[in-house]
Amino acid sequence: MCGIVGYLGHKSPVPLIVDSLRHLEYRGYDSAGVAYLDNENLLQVYKASGKLMNLENILPASLQIRGNGNVSNGAQHIGIGHIRWATHGAANDVNAHPHTGSRNEIALVHNGIIENFYELRQELQCKGHTFLSETDTESVVQLLEHLSQDEPDFCKVVLKALDKLQGAYALNVISKKHPNKLYAARNQAPLVIGVGQDANGHPEYIVASDAVAIVQHTNRLIYLKDGEIAEISEQGVRIMNLKGDLVEPVIETISTDPLTIDKKGYKHFMLKEIYEQPDVVRNSLSGRLQSVHQPIWLLGNTPQAEETFNRELQDIGRIVIIGCGTSYNAGMVGKYFIEELVQIPVEVEAAGEFRYRNPFINNKDLVITMSQSGETADTLAALRLSRQKGAKVLTLTNREDSTMAREADFVMPVRAGVEVSVAATKSFTAQVTALYLLGLALAEKRKASHPEQLEALKSDLLKIPARIETVLHNTEPLQAMARKYGHARDVLFIARGVNFPVAMEGALKLKEISYIHAEGYSGSELKHGPIAMLDSNIPVISVLTKGPVFEKMISNCQEAKAREARCIAISNTPIPKELQTTFEDILEIPECMEPLSPLLTTIPLQLLAYYMAEFLGKDVDQPRNLAKSVTVE
Ligand code: M6R
Repeated sequence: MCGIVGYLGHKSPVPLIVDSLRHLEYRGYDSAGVAYLDNENLLQVYKASGKLMNLENILPASLQIRGNGNVSNGAQHIGIGHIRWATHGAANDVNAHPHTGSRNEIALVHNGIIENFYELRQELQCKGHTFLSETDTESVVQLLEHLSQDEPDFCKVVLKALDKLQGAYALNVISKKHPNKLYAARNQAPLVIGVGQDANGHPEYIVASDAVAIVQHTNRLIYLKDGEIAEISEQGVRIMNLKGDLVEPVIETISTDPLTIDKKGYKHFMLKEIYEQPDVVRNSLSGRLQSVHQPIWLLGNTPQAEETFNRELQDIGRIVIIGCGTSYNAGMVGKYFIEELVQIPVEVEAAGEFRYRNPFINNKDLVITMSQSGETADTLAALRLSRQKGAKVLTLTNREDSTMAREADFVMPVRAGVEVSVAATKSFTAQVTALYLLGLALAEKRKASHPEQLEALKSDLLKIPARIETVLHNTEPLQAMARKYGHARDVLFIARGVNFPVAMEGALKLKEISYIHAEGYSGSELKHGPIAMLDSNIPVISVLTKGPVFEKMISNCQEAKAREARCIAISNTPIPKELQTTFEDILEIPECMEPLSPLLTTIPLQLLAYYMAEFLGKDVDQPRNLAKSVTVE
């Protein structure tokens, strides 16, 4: 949710900042903007509502050098940039960042929410400051300008201003009175400082919401912590806490290669990411599940970490899985799987609800925080609360460098690779695979299931990638369904057992990229309310799998058909001939053991959502109102 960039070095700042913002587009696309100090030390600001492309279109030709802006002309430059996901104020040019103070001396970009912005705004208006935007952010820049009137030391000004802020922020600030310094501060929103050198040996610093916006320039990073401020100049990085006490900066060298953001010939990132899933599952299993006779290796970092984690697993009395959106749905699949196999209570909680009650958590619980980004504000808060209450926390994330990975007791990378499309696809299958491995390992260690059952599951799990490939080779029926049902106003998804979360995920995918109203229900819940909605206009997509709930699901489909709903089956087992007339369309997918079936049943639902959105001409990769990383609560 919003991405920020700051630059201090000898390259042309604007092209470099715009290029870095391109890597942060997943964080929002309501507006984009840059501010920099020009050769006459004047603050120049360009901003435009909508996608980054709109900003690029209004930049003067001299600022439009493509690539890294790798022009080092001897002089030192400074600038900041922003990509917005609107919280306070409409997505227009005025509310776009950077914001400047009334005297146009200071410019600031912000990710987060300033909760006491209204009080600050009123106070500053009474003191003569004129506000132009509706944003919470403008209060901060006006406050900085106000405080700087009587205080020549800008570092002190920043400290004083931060002391007055309530809420979450990652900030980059520049001031024309202090042209050689870039300020950055973090509280409950991610911020990383890249420490690099240009081709002429000049030091350069890039401060961004995510390392992906930095690693093209340097892999030496300082991860700011909550409550830390950085004063960056050609002389280096000074880090202090909110009291102004100096903190020793820790520079980490990360191994991440510059991340190529490339559609590889696919029309959209989402389609590419769907097609990557066979390899994602292979990757996730690699080194962890070698063969059916070997024990599972979970964390994949050091033998000591594995040993400590295994000891932890022996003692736990309960598992609590916490996540949001797709990560929550993946956690639900984990609940069905682990509870059945290990016979240990597993609860799944939506992070935003968990954090605002007084949840019962203690040191016998293993809390699993699930997050593709590792930065989701609610999930991060749940992680911190769980640790405070004495639980050990395992994070399942796609980002090993994320805040959650840094703060959890244990980390299990899900290894999906960079996911660009806002709609999560491959991270879901990677998370589910990771939870399967955890369930199998727990069942092995606790001797909770028959070894033959575990071996059968392991053997079937190893075959899943090839079966996903089979599903991906048969997309014509799904494309035809997308054309047939693409104009539906409402769509219901039903399933039971371990596939119930798949129905929820199918509905989430469809609504987020096609804007069609969709709900996922347990087939058994249909008759308790949603059946009232059914008529001949509503497609009901049912997930049918061979196993204990197959017949129950068939009955639920017939109940829907009796209300004239248009029934569609995604089935991993042939539907008996006499029942086939219940369905307008049937898609058969490969069979596998029931507990593992979500890894296959999810794929056609992702594809169907994709083709429907594509048929309707929607912006598949960047759906309206959404952002990939939700760092505000
Ligand atoms: O990064 P996270 O996994 O913590 O993100 C959680 C949700 O915001 C995310 O899954 C969201 O629901 C996706 N857009 C779903 O496709």
